[in-house]
Amino acid sequence: MIKVSPSVLAADFANLGSEAKRAEEAGADLLHLDVMDGVFVPNISFGAKVIQSIRGYTRLPFDVHLMITDPARYIDDFVKAGADLITIHYESCDDQISVLKQIRSAGVKASISIKPATPAFILEPLLDYVDMVLVMTVEPGFGGQSFIPDTLESVRSVSAMVKSRGLNIDIEVDGGITAETIRPAYDAGANVFVAGTSVFRADDASAAIAALRSACV
Ligand code: DX5
Ligand code: ZN
Repeated sequence: MIKVSPSVLAADFANLGSEAKRAEEAGADLLHLDVMDGVFVPNISFGAKVIQSIRGYTRLPFDVHLMITDPARYIDDFVKAGADLITIHYESCDDQISVLKQIRSAGVKASISIKPATPAFILEPLLDYVDMVLVMTVEPGFGGQSFIPDTLESVRSVSAMVKSRGLNIDIEVDGGITAETIRPAYDAGANVFVAGTSVFRADDASAAIAALRSACV
């Protein structure tokens, strides 16, 4: 069974509480929250305070994607804000294992992400410390970009590593996921799908999520 994680980056920022509720009512499994610091990526979105403000509006687990430099400094803030799962970027820090341990010891699920150009094999030593791997299927920083088909190779590599080690790790893809691009990502081994534009900008979010699910049947 796949999981759909709508990204609020494509939602109405003036009404994030009701947008979170709308995603839940439309059948989402998680809510994806993209944190950008303007340094790790060339865009600024929102931080822990905004996430905490949305927390009371939905029971969906919060899937927090940190696109920030030196994430260790802010893990506690995102845990307190209500994160259920925190993703850090491989490229954003030097000692990924210690940050992943920090996340897990705060009682939250830990995940590591790679940008499209980062080779998947570098994840091998980190797999014992994560609950999920996020393979970026666009360059991080902006919503509404086109899915990069070459990234499917990384999804396949991660899936093969996870299977050969017999681990129970989710594989999430993020960027340009639509009812058309979801199937190849699913076939490559992904089971968690971030969808910003294709859900929040659809006329009917519930039909959009249903279309994502039915593309994987
Ligand atoms: C990009 C973000 C994505 C983005 C996806 O840096 O990590 O989560 O919101 O948006 P869409 O689905 O519109 O590509
Ligand atoms: Zn994201």
